[in-house]
Amino acid sequence: MSKAYFGIEGLDRSLENGVSYGSQIAVVGDSGIGKTVMAGEFIKEGLRCGDTCIYVACDEPPTAMREHLQSFKVGTPAYEEMGRLIFIDAYEESGSTEKYVISDHRHLVKYYALEKEVLHSYAGHRVRLVADSLSTLLTMVDTAEILEFHRTRLKHLRKSGILTMDIFVSGVLDPQVMTITGHLYNLILKMSFSSSRYSPIRQLQIGKVKSQQFVSSRHIFTISPIYGILVYADMGVGE
Ligand SMILES: Nc1ncnc2c1ncn2[C@@H]1O[C@H](COP(=O)(O)OP(=O)(O)O)[C@@H](O)[C@H]1O
Ligand SMILES: [Mg+2]
Repeated sequence: MSKAYFGIEGLDRSLENGVSYGSQIAVVGDSGIGKTVMAGEFIKEGLRCGDTCIYVACDEPPTAMREHLQSFKVGTPAYEEMGRLIFIDAYEESGSTEKYVISDHRHLVKYYALEKEVLHSYAGHRVRLVADSLSTLLTMVDTAEILEFHRTRLKHLRKSGILTMDIFVSGVLDPQVMTITGHLYNLILKMSFSSSRYSPIRQLQIGKVKSQQFVSSRHIFTISPIYGILVYADMGVGE
């Protein structure tokens, strides 16, 4: 079966055999750490290898991601015309000019229904789905409903073979909810600033379950305007 990659060398290298379609990735991190940049890389790689990429924009209008991809020389209009790059606007409730818009952000049912509808129309394709950030949609929702949403949605995505990247902003959701949520994903990427007082150092923790054991490695990363995210070899910095 074919495997998928992030298009980020240091990260792909540490995952060895990539990730399978149908697996689910949680990206958790502080504001400004690089989650959206990571999402852009993941989409760029998806477009490169023939996947259909769906980006759910919750924190910024979809055009912010269009412009970001263009800054990395991705010709978004052509991909959109071919139906290989699809945006779902979960940012603007009214007045959006996008084809797919979540009309009411307070109802997860509406989100789930639209996501399912869009995915259904790409059945049979190899699909990557990115929700940036899912935590934004869940802020006003109670715990039981969040967990029910995750279970139902992730099960459906797995069954449909969708390679999913769900982004969560650190500290937005209840820590207990985040812990339980984390267990539902195959791969967890935690991005954080280290406590250095002099200059901000970006750290990436890659965690996954391997032979029924949770294994993780820590890496330093930087964001280059030309190359995007650069992940360095396992630095073994703190555990
Ligand atoms: N194309 C780019 N080139 C270089 N740096 C960028 C680029 N896009 C964003 N950045 C920087 O990367 C950092 C992380 O941005 P972003 O991914 O939007 O954070 P967040 O985790 O909140 O989504 C910011 O400091 C931003 O200035
Ligand atoms: Mg962001």
